Amino acid sequence: MTHVRKKISVIGAGFVGSTCAHWLAAKELGDVVLLDVNEGAAQGKALDLYEASPVELFDARVTGTKDYKDTAGSDVVIITAGIPRKPGMSRDDLLATNSKIMKEVCEGIKKFAPESIVIVVSNPLDAMAFVAKQVTGFPRERVIGMAGVLDTARFKTFVSEAVNVSVKDIHAIVLGGHGDTMVPMPRHCSVGGVPLQEMLPKEKIDQIVQRTRQGGAEIVNLLKTGSAFYSPSASAVQMAEAILKDQKRILPCAVELQGEYDVKNLFVGVLCKLGGKGMEEVIQLKLNAEEKAGLDNSIKAVEELVSALKKIQY
Ligand code: NAI
Ligand code: 2OP
Repeated sequence: MTHVRKKISVIGAGFVGSTCAHWLAAKELGDVVLLDVNEGAAQGKALDLYEASPVELFDARVTGTKDYKDTAGSDVVIITAGIPRKPGMSRDDLLATNSKIMKEVCEGIKKFAPESIVIVVSNPLDAMAFVAKQVTGFPRERVIGMAGVLDTARFKTFVSEAVNVSVKDIHAIVLGGHGDTMVPMPRHCSVGGVPLQEMLPKEKIDQIVQRTRQGGAEIVNLLKTGSAFYSPSASAVQMAEAILKDQKRILPCAVELQGEYDVKNLFVGVLCKLGGKGMEEVIQLKLNAEEKAGLDNSIKAVEELVSALKKIQY
C-alpha cells in the first residue's frame, strides 16, 4: 500500500517546534516527526502529544527522534532549530550560532528528504532561509521563510482590537525583511472590504504599524527567557497546510527574489501563492513612493544581514 497520509518533519523540538507539532497533529495535516539534538525531549514531547490523540480525537502518528533517516519521505519540513532571541539581543546577534545549526540541519534534509518543501522559521529569518537554500541546493519554490504571516497576524490582531471587529474580517499585508524595517501596508489593509484608512485616523494606524514592527521584541520583553511561539508556530503551520492541501493561498512569505522588485538572490518577504509545489508565484504589488522607500530600506537591511553572514564560516 502506498503511503497516503502526508508526512511533516519538524526540526527543533523547542517552543516553536513542539507547538508546530501540536497544531499539525490537531489539524490532522499528516504524521509528524519531531527531530532535535536533544533526543529525549523530542521523543518525550512527541509521545505526550501522540497520547493526547484519543482525547482530542485526531488521527496523526507523532514520533520523536534525533536521526534524519526518520525524516525520509517528508512532504514538508519545518525548521525551528536554533537558539531564540533573549532580551537585549537582536535577531542579528543570533547569526553566528544559528547559521551553523542551520547548515547541519539542511545537510540532513538534503540527504534524507530531498523532495521535501522546506519552511524556515529559525532566526535571523531572512539569513537562515538564505543558508537553507545554499546548503540544500533546492529550487527557490521549495525553500520558503516564515515571517510575513506572523507579522501580518500581529498587524491584524492590533487592527481588530482597534476597530472592534472580528479578526476574520481583517485583511492585511506586511512585506520586507523580518526585522524592525518590515513594511506593514496600511493601504492594503481592509476591514470587511472597507479600506482601513477610512476606519481609523492616521495617528492610530501609525501606532499599529510601529507596534507590529516591534511585535517580536514586545513578547521577548514580557517572557524574558525566550521569544514568541504560539503565533509563530500557527503561522508556519498555515503555510504548511497551504502546501499540503494545494490550497493556492496568497500569503506573505520570505522567498528568494529573482528580479522581482529589482532584487536578485536575496530572501525578502513578498506576497506569494503557496500550493502543492511550494512557492508557486510571486505576486508583485504596485507600490507608491512611500511603500517603495520602505521596501527598499528593508531590502537594504537584509543585504547587510547577508553580507555579515557571508563573513561567517558556517
Ligand atoms: P527553543 O530554544 O525553544 O528551541 C530550539 C530547539 O532547537 C531546541 O530544542 C534545541 O535543542 C534545538 N536545536 C539546537 N540545535 C539543534 C540542531 N543542531 N539540530 C536540531 N535541533 C537543534 O527556541 P524556539 O522558541 O523554539 O525558537 C526557535 C527558533 O525560531 C529561534 O531561532 C527563534 O528566533 C525562531 N523564531 C522565528 C520566528 C519567525 O518569525 N521567523 C518567530 C519565533 C521564533
Ligand atoms: C518574533 O517575531 C522572535 O522573530 C521572532 O517573535
